[in-house]
Amino acid sequence: MQKILVTGNGPLHGEVAVSGAKNAVLPILCATLLTEEPVTIRNVPNLHDVQTTRKVLEGLGAKVTTDEKVFGTGLESFMTVDSSTVNSHIAPYELVKTMRASVLVLGPLLARYGEAEVSLPGGCAIGSRPVDLHIKAMQSLGAEVVVEHGFIKAKAKGARLVGAHHSFDIVSVGATENALMAAVLAEGTTILDNAAMEPEIVDLADCLIAMGASIIGHGTSRIEIHGVESLHGATHDVVADRIECGTFLVAAAMSRGKITTTHSRPETMDAVLDKLREAGAEITIEGDRITLDMKGQRPKAVDVTTAVHPAFPTDMQAQFMALNCIAEGVGIIRENIFENRFMHVSELQRLGADIKVEGHTAIVRGVDQLSGAPVMATDLRASASLILAGLVADGETLVDRIYHLDRGYENIEAKLQGLGAKIKRVD
Ligand code: EPZ
Repeated sequence: MQKILVTGNGPLHGEVAVSGAKNAVLPILCATLLTEEPVTIRNVPNLHDVQTTRKVLEGLGAKVTTDEKVFGTGLESFMTVDSSTVNSHIAPYELVKTMRASVLVLGPLLARYGEAEVSLPGGCAIGSRPVDLHIKAMQSLGAEVVVEHGFIKAKAKGARLVGAHHSFDIVSVGATENALMAAVLAEGTTILDNAAMEPEIVDLADCLIAMGASIIGHGTSRIEIHGVESLHGATHDVVADRIECGTFLVAAAMSRGKITTTHSRPETMDAVLDKLREAGAEITIEGDRITLDMKGQRPKAVDVTTAVHPAFPTDMQAQFMALNCIAEGVGIIRENIFENRFMHVSELQRLGADIKVEGHTAIVRGVDQLSGAPVMATDLRASASLILAGLVADGETLVDRIYHLDRGYENIEAKLQGLGAKIKRVD
């Protein structure tokens, strides 16, 4: 079981390149099932979740090719998926249980083949993660869905799914993505109301449009899709990962440093950049480069309330909690998206943080100095917050169970080493 050893080592400085977005590339890989022509996706990050999605696609019979020499090296890192050889519509439990995003093959399989059997993903550390909204959307589009023996079994009633006007009870990124992918080949027009507006939804829609889909309104709460007979091959560059980018910027703010992120998409990060400014950072934007400069100052505590895009993203909550742990003042953190996304609190407390949790609210009182200690990662973004805390703690912090981290951060220790951090992977 690998661990990461971090030693507090002063302000970060330098440049770091942001990778393609995990939460965009996963649905986009699933979208390749919608055409029998090859689809090439570039700027694919080398993440554990990407490898799992590849296994799901290959398990369905698709052929996935890449060039190991360039895989995980930025824009040139590509995956080409040829789903003309797909011969199954069953996404197995052993893969789905390791990555709940596998449920995103439901919409494409239904749209392309008229049927799908996807294992129920089950919960994870941050919550029960139900899929009822996905199922309701498929039913709106004319699928019969039964859940039995741990599987979602869906079948189009007619030869094709049928367009519909569907409104989501609550905003859901994944359910919006599944509905979008199901609707592009449905008969007639689909309107999705109360749709998620995350940049990763926009990126998925842009890829589908490149494949010949007819979509408008993506990025707003109402998406309109006109079904087409078939989609064709395309090449698509994955949008930059706003959460990875935000994580590095918070690391720089906590360490009182100055860094520049490159290959970024600042226009997808308004809420996070505003919070960093509120914490005292000077932020300069030049195209795809974001420079954060703390001018050697301790960050000020900030209040954070997570909500759907374009409000403050839940995936940045743990990172800002780490910042508040060492900030000047008291920061209040409210988590409104997931029911159990404070797993990092007890581990941060092991490092000397002063945090009180009351329901979905955490009151964080900044301390002058954290002290390094062995800690345990529980989920992806919690792992990141422990790394960030270790960067500024006195002494060594050993983070265990870092397989959580590898799901969503590409070469994080190499990237942080490049910014001057003392960090390494140990067995
Ligand atoms: C996506 O998860 C992201 N994952 C998550 O990122 C992110 O935190 C989340 O969106 C919110 O932005 C990927 O894109 C692969 P939701 P998703 O459906 O789609 C409830 C990370 O760290 N809900 O928008 O699963 C759900 O329980 C990960 O990169 C239902 O009740 O999130 C949650 O409370 C973590 N029924 C809320 O909706 C459903 O059918 C929002 O979940 C679906 C969701």
